Amino acid sequence: MKYWKISTLLLLTPFFLQCGGEAKVSSDKLDQRIDSVMMLMNLEEKIGQMNLFTSDWDVTGPTLRENYKEDIVAGKVGAIFNAHTAAYNRELQRIAVEESRLKIPLLFGYDVIHGYKTIFPIPLGEAASWDLEAIERSASVAAAEASAAGLHWTFAPMVDISREPRWGRVMEGAGEDPYLGSMVARARVRGFQGETFENADKVLACVKHFAAYGAPEAGREYNTVDMSDRMFRDVYLPPYKAAVEEGAYTVMTSFNELDGVPASGNSYLLHDILREEWGFKGIVVTDYTSINEMVLHGIVADEKEAGELALQAGVDMDMQGAVYYKYLKQSVEEGKISVTQIDQAVRNILRVKFILGLFDDPYRYFDTEREKQVLFSQANQEAALDMARKSIVLLRNENQTLPLSKELRSLAVIGPLADSQNDLIGAWSGAGNGNDCVSLLKGLQDKAGTAMQIRHARGCDFEGTDRSGFAAALSLARQSDAIVVAIGEKGRMSGEAMSRSDITLPGVQEELVKALVATGKPVVVVLMNGRPLAIPWIAENTPAVLETWFLGTKAGNAIADVLFGDYNPSGKLTMTFPRNVGQIPIYYNHKNTGRPFEPNTTWTSHYMDVPNSPQFPFGWGLSYTTFDYSAIQADQPAFGKSGSVTLRVTVSNTGLRDGEEVVQLYVRDLVGSVTRPVRELKGFKKINLKAGSQEEVTFTLTAADLAFHTRSMAFEAETGYFDVFIGGNSEADQSIRIQLTE
Ligand code: BGC
Repeated sequence: MKYWKISTLLLLTPFFLQCGGEAKVSSDKLDQRIDSVMMLMNLEEKIGQMNLFTSDWDVTGPTLRENYKEDIVAGKVGAIFNAHTAAYNRELQRIAVEESRLKIPLLFGYDVIHGYKTIFPIPLGEAASWDLEAIERSASVAAAEASAAGLHWTFAPMVDISREPRWGRVMEGAGEDPYLGSMVARARVRGFQGETFENADKVLACVKHFAAYGAPEAGREYNTVDMSDRMFRDVYLPPYKAAVEEGAYTVMTSFNELDGVPASGNSYLLHDILREEWGFKGIVVTDYTSINEMVLHGIVADEKEAGELALQAGVDMDMQGAVYYKYLKQSVEEGKISVTQIDQAVRNILRVKFILGLFDDPYRYFDTEREKQVLFSQANQEAALDMARKSIVLLRNENQTLPLSKELRSLAVIGPLADSQNDLIGAWSGAGNGNDCVSLLKGLQDKAGTAMQIRHARGCDFEGTDRSGFAAALSLARQSDAIVVAIGEKGRMSGEAMSRSDITLPGVQEELVKALVATGKPVVVVLMNGRPLAIPWIAENTPAVLETWFLGTKAGNAIADVLFGDYNPSGKLTMTFPRNVGQIPIYYNHKNTGRPFEPNTTWTSHYMDVPNSPQFPFGWGLSYTTFDYSAIQADQPAFGKSGSVTLRVTVSNTGLRDGEEVVQLYVRDLVGSVTRPVRELKGFKKINLKAGSQEEVTFTLTAADLAFHTRSMAFEAETGYFDVFIGGNSEADQSIRIQLTE
């Protein structure tokens, strides 16, 4: 044993020491280095690299293994998740590189979804900023903090497109649109991974959940997904592809089945698309125990068979399921799988460890000094505040109720979320601490100073029917100049396994708002929630509604800035808000049908009890100023497949305040070899306009922008006519017709 330790160390040292940041490593050299390790490994050690186990620190699902430290010594673990802080992870790494035979360093992963210690808005909120630079910055702050806390790997970004507000995980994604979703996916991968791991301040991104996890039937978590391949490729697949193209080093499978095959055993997804079509070279990791779950899916008889199916499909690393750990060796001995298949997976894992520079210095991510400096730094909090402001969407503002005047003498701050801190960091909040979060009440108090009397009454809880707090809230409201009422969902009512069949406001919150509106005082509804809600009464009867999601550490400051006009809101929805749950799925890029809705006609596609239109469409969001769009101009009426067309529009700020506008471009392909959506987002620009000023905004479209999966499943644009719409939301009515020719 001793001999082995010494000899492997000697053999490996030169290779380990030569390997630094990935940019310097040519792939031939990298392959040789991988070979140099592979040749020392026995089968158990190879299989060992393929296991990812949770530590006992922070658990996000069932735990199967308690003796993971012994497993590290035995070389039976390749990576650990849910272990963090530089000191703790250093100790685990020490066990790996000092006590295991081959001294192969561990990878440390964690769900750093919207911040590690400094918590940013939930991703659905960040997406509403349509500000890719800010989103990238948010991910890079998360990476700086996570890497300082001993982490190499975040299980993000989640890029699952979803048209399902009942599904609790929409809070983790960018919404319903494949184009915007792809841009956000790229920005987040860039932010997490940066250009190089040389400075140990970046982390590996993990694109998840591959694939189509965002389309569970009836919005119920983990439920079956079934859709046409065309729909899959046109709508759901693009963001995963974009993230892989952007260089994401790891991909996580999803829990769901797709066309009858669970993702973790799906070679169409993991081999044909990911490896063959896209050339992915990184690690494929399962989502939690999804290999084991293939038994319950009914696609294999037992766990051993599940492991074989997963490996054959292309899963490199088994998260927490211990299926590879328990059965893979036996499967090799029985000839069910080959050592070559195992070697392939192990090479994928070692490659990433080399790229991170861990063989060079296994301790490079464990700098406790840097950890102290970086975590929750002033600069990071400022970035979180900036992102929080940008994520807010002004849904309604009748008679310029907002912004509130700073001259108000008194303000009533009401509602179950008004003084909450914990809820505002939302689900998947890493190592964030609710006590560090600025509540709305605190944010308002800090802003208003002493001249304005700010008083709080909770009014009611999130759930239940207790109305005993109404009286105090109403009495306070009557004594105040204006009312801010913070309502919505508890922080943990969205996220994993948090599906809801009813997406109205829970409890008696709406009743409370009705009573407040009846006082005749100006009422501003501040919504906090992790998904689109169905709030028809509030959307149509309250003077002002502000969508604030869960904005993170600086939530209260950001909302106060918007309420008092120190920041002019510019966010736009990235998921449609339905009028009621029966309209779901409701999304802007739907098909026309052969009987599109016509007023006063019976035999057209409609409901008897609710309009077809949503409460708030995709792309919707108001400002404290107003924008006017000129007619659209095209530089030519037609363009060929190798050419392009440039579209111009002049946007004017016609109000009295400076403001930002997200100028959106949608296309409708009028005739296709298969039916085409009524609109598809193909471009956007966020511009900043001074009051009274105007700016010409241009977009260039090429045939590639108009490509889709045609009748023969070729991905290409078809010649013909297209209507182009440009405006401030997906219902923009300015349009121009252009033609694509051969
Ligand atoms: C979630 C993943 C997450 C993993 C590890 C799973 O339950 O679906 O998104 O990365 O747990 O915590």
